[in-house]
Amino acid sequence: MPKKTTISLIKCDVGSLAGHHVVPKPLLSIGEKNLRKAKENGLINSYYVFNVGDDLQLLMVHEKGESNPEIHQLAWNTFQEAANKALQLKLYGAGQDLLKNAFSGTVRGLGPGVAGMEIEERKSDPIIVFAADKTSAGSFNLPLFRIFADPMSTAGLVIDPNMAGGFKFEIVDAKEGKKVVVKCPEEMYELIALIGTVERYIISRVWRARDDLICASGSVTRLSLIAGKYVGKDDPVMIVRAQHGLPAVGEVLAPFMHSYLVAGWMRGSHWGPVMPVGLKDARCTLFDGPPRMVALGFQVSNGAIASDDDGKPMIADLFADPAFELARKEASQYAAMLRRMGEFEPARLSVESMEYTTLPQVIEKLKERFKPI
Ligand code: F6R
Ligand code: MG
Ligand code: MG
Repeated sequence: MPKKTTISLIKCDVGSLAGHHVVPKPLLSIGEKNLRKAKENGLINSYYVFNVGDDLQLLMVHEKGESNPEIHQLAWNTFQEAANKALQLKLYGAGQDLLKNAFSGTVRGLGPGVAGMEIEERKSDPIIVFAADKTSAGSFNLPLFRIFADPMSTAGLVIDPNMAGGFKFEIVDAKEGKKVVVKCPEEMYELIALIGTVERYIISRVWRARDDLICASGSVTRLSLIAGKYVGKDDPVMIVRAQHGLPAVGEVLAPFMHSYLVAGWMRGSHWGPVMPVGLKDARCTLFDGPPRMVALGFQVSNGAIASDDDGKPMIADLFADPAFELARKEASQYAAMLRRMGEFEPARLSVESMEYTTLPQVIEKLKERFKPI
C-alpha cells in the first residue's frame, strides 16, 4: 500500500478580541505550542496556525488518515485550552463553538469545523486551503461549481484532455442529513438545481470522474442544527488540490475575481458579500463583516508541507494580491447597497433561516395581539 498523506484543517471560534473581530496572539500561541509539541512527538509532520476573524485555524499535515482520533484529540485539547485562556482574559465569546463537551474520538458534531483530505502524493501536489469568517458552509458552492464544472471559468475543462471526463460532486442535504453524488457535465443542471439552495445543499467533496482522484473537500457543519438554535456562524473551511490534470491554481482562484453574496454576516442573519483578503486583513469589522475569505497555497512533500531551509512551512497568502482588489471593491459596494435596505428582505435572510435566530422571540411577544381578519 503506498503511503498516504492527510491534510486536516480544523477550526473553532474559541473567543476573540473586541467582540467577534479577531483571534488575539495569546490564543494563536496556544495553537503554535500544542502543534509544535505534536510535531516533535511525531503525531503530525507539519502545521500552520492562523486565524480568519474570530476563528482559530489549525492546519495539520500528517499520515494518520482523515478521522484519526489522536489528531481530533489534539485539536479538541487545543481549543479547550485556548477557550480557557480566553475566559481568563475575559475575551468575547470564550468557547463559543465548543457546543458539546462529549469528546469521544472526533470533534465532528461538537462544534468545530473540519475539512480533511487523504491523498496519495503525486510527483508534485499543490494544495489550496480556504477559510472564511461570518458565513456558512454553502458559501463554497458557487466557486466550487465554477472551478470544477464551469468551462467558461476553468479553461482546462475545455483544453486539457485529462479533465474531459468531468468531475463528480458529493452534496450533503444539511436539513435531511442525506447525501448524493452528481456527475458533471452530464448532470450539470441537476447539480445547479441543488447547490443553488446554498443554505441547505452543500458540496462536501469533489472527485475527478475518470479515476476518482479526490480534489476538493469542505466542511459541512451547521451549528444551528447541532444546537437547535442560533449559536454563531458555521464559518467554513475547504481544501482543494490543483494542477496537472486538475484545475490550475489560477483557475481555482479565478471565481474570486468577483465578490458574491453568502449567508451570514451580522448575527448570522444577513446576506453579505464575500471579501477575499490576505491574512493581515482577515478581521471582521463593518456590520461584523463583510464576510472575509482567505486562500493559502502550499505544496505537500513526503507527508508534510514543503518547508524552507529553516524548516518553516512555505505558505502562499494567495488573496493578498492586488488582482483581488476588484472583488474587494465590489464587496464594499454590495455591502453598502445591502445595508441601505436595513432589516428588509432580501438583505435579511429568509424567514426559514431566521427561525434559528432570536427573531422569533421578538415576534412571539405580539402573538396574543393578533386578531383574525
Ligand atoms: C457571531 C457573529 C456576530 C454576532 C453579533 C452579536 O459569530 O458573528 O455577528 O452575532 O456580534 O453578538 P452577541 O449576541 O454575542 O452580542
Ligand atoms: Mg465569535
Ligand atoms: Mg467566526
